[in-house]
Amino acid sequence: MFNSKIIGFGHYLPSKVLKNNDFTKFVDTSDEWIFSRTGIKQRHIASKDELTSDLAIKASESAIKSAKIKTKDIDCIIVATTTPDDTFPSTATKIQNHFKMNNIPAFDIQAVCSGFIYSLQVADSFIRSGKSKNILVIGAETLSKIVDWNDRRTCVLFGDGAGAVVLSSNNGNGGILSTKLYSDGSWHDSLYSDGGPSKNQEVGKIRMNGKDIFKQAVNKLTEATNEALQECQLNVGDINWFIPHQANQRIISSTAKKLGINSKKTISTVEFHANTSAASIPLAMSCSVKSGILKKGDIIALCAIGGGLTWGSCIVKI
Ligand code: ACO
Repeated sequence: MFNSKIIGFGHYLPSKVLKNNDFTKFVDTSDEWIFSRTGIKQRHIASKDELTSDLAIKASESAIKSAKIKTKDIDCIIVATTTPDDTFPSTATKIQNHFKMNNIPAFDIQAVCSGFIYSLQVADSFIRSGKSKNILVIGAETLSKIVDWNDRRTCVLFGDGAGAVVLSSNNGNGGILSTKLYSDGSWHDSLYSDGGPSKNQEVGKIRMNGKDIFKQAVNKLTEATNEALQECQLNVGDINWFIPHQANQRIISSTAKKLGINSKKTISTVEFHANTSAASIPLAMSCSVKSGILKKGDIIALCAIGGGLTWGSCIVKI
């Protein structure tokens, strides 16, 4: 019986940084409004010719190096993204071609901000069934390219970045302990892009009812995390670190409080990265590993919610 363990972490952020005050040049807003409502101070923005696959490749190089394996040992690539390079083919196949990891399965998963949790469950299932041994699981986004830069309600919230992990077959203890996935399509109109290949042949821009999302996020993230803990017979007290989707500091703090998790055990990078959708959790994990916060043996609770609505949670021992 196999289980899966994260053996490598990597991330990449574009070099350009946009601070809250920079927005005052083109929309009616302020650093005070943005920071007090969201906890965001800055976000990284990809250049015009920097694509989601470019960010993903850099994060992957770092994850593969940290896993101490060779690219030829990767036997599957899963990319969680809402901002693929092209309508088709998948961004995963561009990454596969870059690394010349030929003749392996490579595909994208679209679950918006929950995409990385969805991808972890799919990757874990592939490994448990014996189909794959080393899977590159990536969350990568260039949300700046689908933000409406004239809409102050949304443009201040998002950023670009990528995070990647190598999930590997493991006979021992630990690794992915449980995952829970959910969706409820009746919330479609609360968070969506107003374009699509079939709808109007456009990419579209992000549209959101912030208040709906806020309320749903806190309740659903709390329930999902509790259910994932129950599934692996652990309690909140067993968690060393809580890493929720990095959308908004008020959502992160309210969810941690509702779960009864101390703020000192809650990892937040939203101040520096803003909301990077599917990239936010692997980015926060990789940054925390590189800065020595996350240590081998730690039990981590992950949870995310995004457009759909989709949401989910994962308990992992690293
Ligand atoms: N700067 C200044 N004023 C603004 C801004 C801005 N950037 N954005 C909105 N406002 C104004 C509005 O126009 C409104 O003005 P009005 O009263 O004159 O009409 C006023 O501020 C209040 O607007 P609300 O939308 O009611 O503001 P709210 O307090 O709900 O905060 C926010 C908005 C921060 C988006 C909040 O609803 C929220 O955090 N929602 C969660 C959404 C989220 O994080 N989404 C990310 C994507 S989903 C995900 O990843 C889970």
